[in-house]
Amino acid sequence: MATLTDKKRAKTQSIGRPAAELIFGDLWAFDPAPETADPKLKARYDLFIGGKFVAPAAGKYFDSINPANETKLAEIAHAGVADVDAAFVAAQKAFVTWGKMPGKERAKHIYRIARLLQDRAREFAVAETMDGGKPIKESRDFDVPMAAAHFFYHAGWADKLDYVAPGRKVAPLGVVGQVIPWNFPLLMMAWKLAPALAMGNCVVIKPAETTSITALKLGEILQDAGLPAGVVNIVSGFGDTGAAVMNHPIAAKVAFTGSTEVGKIIMRSLAGTEKKMTMELGGKAANIIFDDAPLDQAVEGIVNGIFFNQGHVCCAGSRLLVQESVADQVLAKLKQRIKVLRVGDPLDKNTDLGAINSKEQLGTIQRLVAAGVKEGATLFQPECKLPAKGYYFRPTVFSDVAMSHRIAREEIFGPVLSVLTFRTLEEAVEKANNTAYGLSAGVWTDKGSRILKMSTELKAGVVWANTYNKFDPTSPFGGYKESGFGREGGRQGLLDYCKLI
Ligand code: NAI
Ligand code: MG
Repeated sequence: MATLTDKKRAKTQSIGRPAAELIFGDLWAFDPAPETADPKLKARYDLFIGGKFVAPAAGKYFDSINPANETKLAEIAHAGVADVDAAFVAAQKAFVTWGKMPGKERAKHIYRIARLLQDRAREFAVAETMDGGKPIKESRDFDVPMAAAHFFYHAGWADKLDYVAPGRKVAPLGVVGQVIPWNFPLLMMAWKLAPALAMGNCVVIKPAETTSITALKLGEILQDAGLPAGVVNIVSGFGDTGAAVMNHPIAAKVAFTGSTEVGKIIMRSLAGTEKKMTMELGGKAANIIFDDAPLDQAVEGIVNGIFFNQGHVCCAGSRLLVQESVADQVLAKLKQRIKVLRVGDPLDKNTDLGAINSKEQLGTIQRLVAAGVKEGATLFQPECKLPAKGYYFRPTVFSDVAMSHRIAREEIFGPVLSVLTFRTLEEAVEKANNTAYGLSAGVWTDKGSRILKMSTELKAGVVWANTYNKFDPTSPFGGYKESGFGREGGRQGLLDYCKLI
């Protein structure tokens, strides 16, 4: 267990730290606390088409690795154009009955998916952490329960669709094509599948190439839940597979979550077609701290806002805007807090920051951090030890950041915070909105009236007040400007999966 050596105790006494600044990271050695549940991985994952696992037509597979130690976890099928086509044909066939099935029958299927996912929650959490690098405490306490919650919530809607658009009738669109990213692999499956299925659509979905395992494991659950063959088809692969899904003529609607760059490619290629689209793209959210905010809570919110999931979060609070009068105090508290964050083995239950999802992403983060240093911002990183193997990056805070710096404008998608200051509310709004994105924002203040004013003036799809990164299936999520369009979750999310008649 934890030990406090005499030497270290003497050291703290001689420094004479005030009691309020106990730095556990300096004083205590944690024993390893590895999660040991079996993720039940297969050596090879095939495509899930027409209710069965099938080999890809061209026989191509790629490796999925564990970014925490660079070892191979499994082989994943690479779907080609012929496989994607077979998936759409299966979905079109399934739609004939699924689309007409009474809502209360569809609800039973969706409810069973949620229950089965709960039954296998620990196994899915371990698989998610191994494949993607996020800390086990997050996959266990956030990703998997949230994914189940999305299925439960939408199971509840399936027989109440007359209330989605009061006064109007709704009908499913048909087959929808969906492409998802690697930051919340299972949760994004749930966000995409649950509303589509509740509304009576059938789906062809592509997980991200670095994180296909929990998506394909969900295929096992869909089988166990007795979901009719072809209602959901899962085609793993790279960008070529994604493009085939987005451009398939059978797709009545496409839904994409990922980079703004790829979102634009898809929008260009579908312009002028009849396909409906929703896009959930990047972000560069402002987390705004006023001088009357409860500063200790705000510091927790800042940490959660940027270091949750190693900062691989589209709505991450990556730009901290602090009121000038409390800026020094907030920065000092923040640095103290960051010193005790535990970076390392994602499967350890004490880990706060796990592995960066891929070598490519680590490279992107390193490049942008180097740009921050070069442009003159001041870098702060705690002296935590990183594992020798795997992709890791220290929690990083940049102060003295100018609005023109790349680290203040571009999505870094890593554990890197840029700190800026403001004097007045108007300046905070001006700076917060001075971005190409508009996905989320945070406001920390004691005044309710100020919260209401800020949430009206901030051009962001979600504004959190005195909290950050709070999610709920009942609450719509989505962006403005280059963060995309359409909403996921809530009644609004269902509207994007139906036609009004
Ligand atoms: P990406 O946008 O390339 O990947 C997202 C998904 O799109 C993956 O499933 C990928 O296979 C697929 N894809 C790639 N090219 C495609 C195409 N032409 N047509 C259809 N689907 C395609 O994102 P990437 O390269 O993994 O990450 C790059 C940057 O994008 C990150 O550094 C981050 O800033 C941002 N990003 C933002 C996300 C968000 O949730 N807002 C999620 C993932 C990445
Ligand atoms: Mg992987």
